[in-house]
Amino acid sequence: MASPSQKKSSDDGPVLRPHEYDGIQEFDQRLPNWWLFTLYSAILFGFGYWFYYFQSNIPTSDRAAIAHMIAVKEAKELEALKDLNDENLWKMSRNAQFVEAGRAVYMGTCKACHGDNLEGGIGFRLADDGWVHGSTPMQIFHNALNGIPGTGMAPQGGAQLGTQKITQAVAFILSKHDPKTMHDIPRDQEPTLKK
Ligand code: HEC
Repeated sequence: MASPSQKKSSDDGPVLRPHEYDGIQEFDQRLPNWWLFTLYSAILFGFGYWFYYFQSNIPTSDRAAIAHMIAVKEAKELEALKDLNDENLWKMSRNAQFVEAGRAVYMGTCKACHGDNLEGGIGFRLADDGWVHGSTPMQIFHNALNGIPGTGMAPQGGAQLGTQKITQAVAFILSKHDPKTMHDIPRDQEPTLKK
């Protein structure tokens, strides 16, 4: 049974709990405030961390926003380039802004002849790495802008689309390609010509 000393309040020091097992007794110690503070802070931190990183999409949308800002900045720099060359066209083809703009141009103008997925149709297939009229970015750009005389590939530049839109469309097409595997092929190897 509890002796008077066991009823002491915790302010007066530790209270000895009434039970005893194999001669072992236990104090009812009050945990120090600093210790409780650490425990509850850790729980709160853990909850906050879990919510921020796993439930909210704040950090991922941050990352996406930064990637977007970088792409926009890069696109501006590329657009400001005076000379268009193979290297710059490849760079544009790796820039999300350019590729998205180019996709819109392609879907609006080129798709009718070159297919939804560049698979070809009336026009040649643009999805594979073999090119009949030139496999360098500048040749592709030139073909898109000026057309291919004597064929169904009319000039797409000028009144049709400005140079910038053609550049974007070419960036979109190049985004589906690897610079290392682009090559020229003879006309009779163009898959859309085989019946
Ligand atoms: C009215 C149909 C038509 C439209 C629209 C069209 N093309 Fe073509 N394109 C063709 C045809 C047909 C050829 C094949 C020319 C030939 O017979 O040699 C071709 C060929 C090409 C080639 C050369 C492919 C190679 O193997 O070298 C490129 C590049 C190309 N087109 C890009 C474009 C782009 C970019 C657009 C949109 C801005 C576009 N074309 C719009 C019909 C079209």
